[in-house]
Amino acid sequence: MATGEHESSEHNGRGSGDGTLTGRVAVITGGARGQGRSHAIALARAGADVAVCDLCEDLLSATYPMATADDLAETVRLVEAEGRRCMSAQVDVRDLAALTAFVDDVVLALGSVDIVVANAGISTLGSVFAGGAEVWDETIGVNLTGVFNTVSAAARHLVAGRWGRVITVSSMMGRSANPMISAYAASKWGVIGLTKSLAHEFAAHGVTVNAVAPGNVSTDMVHNEALYRLMRPELDAPTAEDVAGPMAALHVQPVPWLEPEEISAAVLFLCSDGARHITGTVIDVDAGASARFTA
Ligand SMILES: NC(=O)c1ccc[n+]([C@@H]2O[C@H](COP(=O)([O-])OP(=O)(O)OC[C@H]3O[C@@H](n4cnc5c(N)ncnc54)[C@H](O)[C@@H]3O)[C@@H](O)[C@H]2O)c1
Repeated sequence: MATGEHESSEHNGRGSGDGTLTGRVAVITGGARGQGRSHAIALARAGADVAVCDLCEDLLSATYPMATADDLAETVRLVEAEGRRCMSAQVDVRDLAALTAFVDDVVLALGSVDIVVANAGISTLGSVFAGGAEVWDETIGVNLTGVFNTVSAAARHLVAGRWGRVITVSSMMGRSANPMISAYAASKWGVIGLTKSLAHEFAAHGVTVNAVAPGNVSTDMVHNEALYRLMRPELDAPTAEDVAGPMAALHVQPVPWLEPEEISAAVLFLCSDGARHITGTVIDVDAGASARFTA
């Protein structure tokens, strides 16, 4: 393969090749809180400037509140506290035009887009016997179409730099299944198919495309009343302590949930020079849940 078909930090004069992300610009969707915020801080700590967007509005099908504008402002504050530049906007990942305008603004203000973390997502619950077409549409819209839109909005900028990292966020439920989460599981299985397909499209441009597939992560998506009640229906007001056992049972290692920073570690690895020839794959960060999967 010609040298020009490989990424190279020498090509554009940015990045030192020793693992630092100085000079890179990262766009993170769903960055107001949870894993998105953790990724923003980790990438900033590694030297990247960061742009975060988030819906900052509640959604009908999600049984827990989404992040707020204050949450988004707090992420900006935390990134700036790392000494990096940070842009933010309220954008719905289902809105391709709005995402494209945001990404174009990022390039104008910060100079490029080199890293994309398509992290925004919602967890929804429901049985097919109860209907649920709206829940289906909203879940697929945010979790799957939203990932496509994010990569689509950034594609020409990623290719322009001849160095890029796209990291999508699937789930252990993107490689397995459970009752009551058909829309969520389908969306996350879809993310893996999309990721592998996009890896082909970007391969000759120095841009890798990989998914992370977390197990239970200690964020508002997990710590909410609706999920607690689903897991312990026999209790009136289940607590985190009450659900720790069933949550741990989804993993193989005996831990109920991981910290967001553990997922950020995988994101950072995929952004490193050492991962330059890793593309089209899935990194499971799921306390061993994937040890139950076929491959
Ligand atoms: N928490 C878990 O156990 C877990 C496990 C596996 C995968 N995931 C995935 O990790 C990602 C991050 O989730 P989290 O755990 O940080 O939960 P979270 O709810 O704290 O974060 C998700 C963020 O996405 C934002 N968002 C939702 N819909 C949006 C939209 N249409 N446009 C823009 N932003 C939107 C929310 O406001 C929120 O800030 C999601 O894709 C989720 O599906 C989570």
